[in-house]
Amino acid sequence: MAGLRSNKSFSIIFLVVLMHENSRNLIHRDQQKISRNLEMVSKPTLKPKPFPIFFISILLSILVITMWFWPNPYENYADQYSTKRDIFESVTRPKWYEIVAEDHKYKGLKIGTVNIDRKVNIFDELHEGLYVKEVKFQPVAQNIKWSDLFPVWINEEYPELQTCPEIPMPQFEEFQDLNVVVATVPCPGMATKLGFIDIFRLQVNLVVANLLVKSNKSIVDFSGDVYAVFLGSCGPMDEIFRCEDLLWHDNDIWVYKPDLRKLKQKMRMPVGTCQLARPTEEAAQVGWNKNASNSILQQPREAYVTVLHSSEDYLCGAIVLGQSIINSKSKKDMILLADSSISSESSKALRHAGWKIKRIERIKSPNAGKNAYNKYNYSKLRIWLLTEYDKVMFIDSDMLVFQNLDEFFLYPQLSAAENNRHIFNSGVMLIEPSRCTFETMMEKRFTIVSYNGGDQGFLNEIFRWWHRWPNKANFLKDFSNIDCGPDHLYPKNTHAMHYLGVKPWMCYRDYDCNWDIEDNQRFASDSAHAKWWQVFDSMPNKLKPVCVLTPDMEERAVIFRRIAKDGNYSDGHWKIKVKDPRRKMNDIP
Ligand SMILES: *[C@@H]1O[C@H](CO)[C@@H](O)[C@H](O)[C@H]1NC(C)=O
Ligand SMILES: *[C@@H]1O[C@H](CO)[C@@H](O)[C@H](O)[C@H]1NC(C)=O
Ligand SMILES: *[C@@H]1O[C@H](CO)[C@@H](O)[C@H](O)[C@H]1NC(C)=O
Ligand SMILES: *[C@@H]1O[C@H](CO)[C@@H](O)[C@H](O)[C@H]1NC(C)=O
Repeated sequence: MAGLRSNKSFSIIFLVVLMHENSRNLIHRDQQKISRNLEMVSKPTLKPKPFPIFFISILLSILVITMWFWPNPYENYADQYSTKRDIFESVTRPKWYEIVAEDHKYKGLKIGTVNIDRKVNIFDELHEGLYVKEVKFQPVAQNIKWSDLFPVWINEEYPELQTCPEIPMPQFEEFQDLNVVVATVPCPGMATKLGFIDIFRLQVNLVVANLLVKSNKSIVDFSGDVYAVFLGSCGPMDEIFRCEDLLWHDNDIWVYKPDLRKLKQKMRMPVGTCQLARPTEEAAQVGWNKNASNSILQQPREAYVTVLHSSEDYLCGAIVLGQSIINSKSKKDMILLADSSISSESSKALRHAGWKIKRIERIKSPNAGKNAYNKYNYSKLRIWLLTEYDKVMFIDSDMLVFQNLDEFFLYPQLSAAENNRHIFNSGVMLIEPSRCTFETMMEKRFTIVSYNGGDQGFLNEIFRWWHRWPNKANFLKDFSNIDCGPDHLYPKNTHAMHYLGVKPWMCYRDYDCNWDIEDNQRFASDSAHAKWWQVFDSMPNKLKPVCVLTPDMEERAVIFRRIAKDGNYSDGHWKIKVKDPRRKMNDIP
């Protein structure tokens, strides 16, 4: 009932006191139910009265009506509820409102609505008199496709020339006072159980996140409490609204209380991979402890991580990778996750190479058959359990770091370099460990289809919205689409090299064995190969025997060398006289 708006009632009473002695009557009655006041005021008009009283009654009625509709900049409806819990409780409200109000200790809530038709939606249940603003924005143009947001190639040489399609946003200045944003999220493609590729869904998520990030609460103080409420079966995008920040969830209703610092960092990113991701000052501060009473800048906890599972085939790779990280003069922790296939002897070598070993259970690919290839290729997902770190940079053990990668820690999850189509390569990724993210992935692994059956396909479904690093952060040793001359010289600015095809340690050090395999020639590069052996040479001698050329490896090399010779391959690498001493080592039984 309107009479409950006590501030307004009070103003009315105040004016009446000034205008007429009869007002005393009203003040007295005010000690009874406030809601009766209007009744009292209008009663005298029922009987004919002398002119002044009639006049005053008319005036009062006008005043009452005017006061009622006149916006009062100093008034905050919602604040009333902070002090009047009993009133709050007497009204039925949606559950999410109660959750938010209670968490916010019944202080003023200022609600913005996004993509909600107030006429038909649950706002009917909200008591009128709450502070609710509709946030209007232009829906994103129909002709924009996902591939426009996530193009395969962008101009990395002149990144400032690169633009993204426009995703319209509201006029944020009008909504700076909000601290709750309620949105209906589109959930297209729920039936297919694939990740979502939907630009309107992205737009709604970005609108909500930006409203919170650009609110006064965020500008003034990162610890300000703001809330996002999503209505819809699928909830918001996990990439933007972290599961850690989920305050409450029931069926189609999701209430988040986001960490504004992290959200702000995300909102600094381009809307897709149409532009390179941007490291920001906020990014550097992500290690801030969210301890409101004591906001001391803590050193962010960060580490390089790699994973070995199922066999020791990549043991040598991990050891040389470790050496390359040390050579890059990084001071960050180096963590290696190993399953039981890595012997204690090998672990010792890995520790000498700089890795801290953590034992893990490997994780099977959900579609692995009995003797399937690389069937535990979901083991990489365990990196999300390294919650003692704020951020972790995963690097595959068939990679090398050529130049220090520490600057790439200044990006949010999930940042990576392009693979092909609209997806990232999971060989190097910056992630933010999180137990609930890991658990979500464990749940979803049986329903989400990975295009390659491995972690890369899976992660690209989970993290549809990712942030693009330049290719130098993960140079894929594949020369089929880039012009690096007939010798496949790798680009000078390469920071990390991904050794696709036959791995350097599984081949003679004399030249890249990929030259001898017709289908692999696109991966072949003697310059990249030589670089790997250069790092190998910089290792302590006692580690070198780990990189043995096994009979299997040698046999394969010999077979392909013969095929190349018989085929008279024009690159002529098969003519090179092999001097690799490991070959002799192998001759000894
Ligand atoms: C809060 O936002 C309003 C606009 O909604 C603005 O007028 C006001 O100055 C802002 N206050 C602060 C402290 O930024
Ligand atoms: C917050 O700071 C206080 C005072 O330094 C400290 O005792 C407490 O452990 C901190 N809490 C967290 C979660 O870091
Ligand atoms: C991952 O493992 C599955 C099951 O063995 C296999 O089918 C798939 O090819 C593997 N994918 C990759 C990229 O290793
Ligand atoms: C091998 O190829 C070269 C040119 O690349 C050619 O001159 C030579 O005759 C070829 N040898 C045989 C045996 O086909």
